[in-house]
Amino acid sequence: MCGIVGYIGEGNAKEIVLRGLHRLEYRGYDSAGVGLYDGKYHVFKEKGRIDALEKTIALNKASLGIGHTRWATHGRVTKENAHPHASYDERFLVVHNGVIDNYKTLAERYLGGKARKSETDSEVFASLVASFAKDHPVDVAIREVLKLLEGSYAVLVVDKENPGTLYAAKHKSPLLIGKRNGGVVIGSDMMALVGAADNYLALEDETFVRITSDNFSLYDLEGDILPYRLQKIDIDAFESDKGEFPHYMLKEIHEQPAVLRRIITKYFDDSEVRIDQALLQKIKMCDRIHILAAGTSMHAGLVVKDMLETFALVPTEVHIASEFAHHPPLIAGNPFFILISQSGETADLRACLTDIKQEGHPSLTVTNVRTSTLAREADDYLEIHAGPEIAVASTKAYTAQIAVLTILAYALSEQSFDLKRELAEVAQAMEQFLDKQEKIRPLVKKYLTKPHAFYIGRGLDYAVCLEAALKLKEISYIHTEGFASGELKHGTIALIEENTPVIALISNAKTAAYTRSGINEVKSRGANTLVIACESFQEAEDAIVLDDVNPTFAPMLTVIPTQLIAYYAALERGNDIDKPRNLAKSVTVE
Ligand code: G6P
Repeated sequence: MCGIVGYIGEGNAKEIVLRGLHRLEYRGYDSAGVGLYDGKYHVFKEKGRIDALEKTIALNKASLGIGHTRWATHGRVTKENAHPHASYDERFLVVHNGVIDNYKTLAERYLGGKARKSETDSEVFASLVASFAKDHPVDVAIREVLKLLEGSYAVLVVDKENPGTLYAAKHKSPLLIGKRNGGVVIGSDMMALVGAADNYLALEDETFVRITSDNFSLYDLEGDILPYRLQKIDIDAFESDKGEFPHYMLKEIHEQPAVLRRIITKYFDDSEVRIDQALLQKIKMCDRIHILAAGTSMHAGLVVKDMLETFALVPTEVHIASEFAHHPPLIAGNPFFILISQSGETADLRACLTDIKQEGHPSLTVTNVRTSTLAREADDYLEIHAGPEIAVASTKAYTAQIAVLTILAYALSEQSFDLKRELAEVAQAMEQFLDKQEKIRPLVKKYLTKPHAFYIGRGLDYAVCLEAALKLKEISYIHTEGFASGELKHGTIALIEENTPVIALISNAKTAAYTRSGINEVKSRGANTLVIACESFQEAEDAIVLDDVNPTFAPMLTVIPTQLIAYYAALERGNDIDKPRNLAKSVTVE
C-alpha cells in the first residue's frame, strides 16, 4: 500500500528518497513520484514502476526530497493522480498516505470553485494548507487543516517559500523519523530509513513535525511541544537482499528452516520457554481466546486455534479482522485477544484494536515488525523473527507465526514434552524437501493446466488448504479454492470435470482415509489429482512425499510444497511474482 519517504540534509536527497521508495515497493503500488529541491523545485511522476520514474529524473543531486508510491484508492491510476500534489497556488507540495474521508466536504467549504488537477483527497489537503497559509504562519496553517481531517494520514509537506524546512504529520497511517548528523529522513517504515539514519522514532497519532537538516521537533495539533526519545536502528534486522535467488518469494520460502531455528533460539532457554510470565498469567485468566487477523495471517490463526485448544485447553475463535471491526460477535466472559499481523500495520486490525482497548480487554500482537503500530498499541507483543518479508505473497511469516504461537500455546499448557526437538524436526523436514524443490516445476506443468484448481484436506490439512489456495490464486491468478474434502460432495463437486486439478494434503492418521475417499470421488469424475502426503500415509501414485513429523506441527511443513507450486505456476505464466497485480503487502486502509 502507499509508501512515503522524505529527506532533508547534507546527503543526496534524490538518492535517499529513491532508495527509500525502492525499499517500500514491496508494499504494493501502481504509480510513483518525487519532489526534489536543488535550488529550484522539480516534480517527477510516472505510472507503473519506480524504475520508469527514475529514468525521467533529470538532476543528480538534491538537498530536500519527498517521494511516494501510490496504490490507487481515490481516483484512477494516472500520472495526474500520482503524488506529489501541488496546492492550487503551487506554493505547497504534498505526499500523503491514508484516506481523508471528508475531503469533498472540506473542498466545498474552504476551496470553493478552485480548480483541481487530480481526483485525489491528497490534492485537496495541499490546497487547504495553501488557503489557510494566507492568514497564518505555515506551522499553524498545517495544524489547523489537520484538525479538520477525518480519516487517516501520514503526510509530508514542502513549502516552496522555505526550502530549509520539511513538515510532516501522522494519524493512523504509519510514519517513522530517523536522524544522523547532518540529515533527517522520514518514511512509512524502517526499510526507508536504513542507510540514512542511525537513530529513529516511531511517531504517535496526531503528531505534527517540523524538520530542518540537522534537527526536528514534535508537536501536538495545538502546537505544544512533545518530548521524544530516539532508539538505535538495528541494521542487521533489515537485511533485504535477494542474494542468489531470482525472486524474493523463492528466497523467503527457502529461509523457512532457518527462521524456525531462529525462533527456537529466541524463545527457548535450554528446554524452558522464554515468554514473559506476566503475559502468560494474563492469558491464563481468560476463558476464551479471540484471534483477529487478515489474509495469510488469518490462515495461520486457523492452525494455531488447534494448538491453543489442544495444549492450553482454552476455547479459541478466529475472526476475519475486517468483519470483526464492523460486525463483532457477542463477546462474553473474560476474553483475550491475539492479533496476528506480519506487518503490524493492517488497518482492519487497528480498527479492531481500538474497540478492544476501549472495552478494556487485554490484547497481544504477534508480528514481524516490532516497531509497527499494532506492536506498540497492544498491551503486549511477540515478535516472529522472520526477518523482512519483501514478496507480497506471505510465506515465511506464515510458518513463523504458527511456530511462535505454538510455543505460546505450549507455555500455557500443563503438558511437558520436548517441543524444541519437535520443531527442530520440522525445520529438518522442511530442509529435506526444499533440497528436492526441482521436482515441483514439472508437476506444475503437468497438473495446473486449467484456469481453476482445488486444494482438499481435512482438519489441519484443510486449514493449510485455505492458505495454499490463497497463495496459488494471489500470484498465478488461477482461480483456486481450498475445501474441506468431506464438504466437496455437498455441492462443489459439480465443478469437477475432465482434468480439473485437485491437490490433496494428507498428514494426519485420523483423517487420511477420509481424504483418500475424497480423492477417489473427484478422480472418478475426471479430476487430475496430485497428492502431497507425509511418508506414513504415502501411496504408490503420490507425487509429493514429505518426511513424517508430529501431525500437530505438520502445517508448517505441508505448506512448503504448496508455496512452491504457487511460485512455479506464476513463473510458468510469466507473472510478476514478487508484486502480483492489485495486491499490496501492507494494507493500511480499511
Ligand atoms: C495483505 C497481504 C497479505 C497479508 C494480509 C495481512 O492482504 O497481501 O499477504 O496476509 O495483507 O497482512 P498482515 O501484515 O496483517 O499479516
